[in-house]
Amino acid sequence: MARTPGELVGARPDPAFEITVDGRTVTALPGQSIAAALWGAGILAWRTTRGDGRPRGAFCGIGQCYDCLATVNGEPNRRACLLPARPGDAITTQEGHGHAGLGV
Ligand code: FES
Repeated sequence: MARTPGELVGARPDPAFEITVDGRTVTALPGQSIAAALWGAGILAWRTTRGDGRPRGAFCGIGQCYDCLATVNGEPNRRACLLPARPGDAITTQEGHGHAGLGV
C-alpha cells in the first residue's frame, strides 16, 4: 500500500483554503507557493511576455528565471514560485510588464 509523504512523516497539515485566479476559485494548502497551487489546479500559465504576448508560468521554480511573475493582490511582478499562498489572495494574469493598469 502506497503512502503519501505526509503520511510517512505523520504530518497533520492545517485545512486547505481558497485563493482566486482571475476570479476563479482555487484551493491551496498551507505552505504551498502560489505557483504550486496554480499547478495543482491545472493552471500552467498566468503571465504573457512583453514583446509578443506569449504565455508563461513557472519554469525554474526557485526564483531565478522570473517567468512566473504574477499580479498578486493588485501588486504586479511577484514571483509566484516564491510567494506562499495565503487565504483570500487574488491572483490576476499579468500582461506585459505588469504596469499597464497602473498608469506607469
Ligand atoms: S519559476 Fe523561475 S522565478 Fe519563479
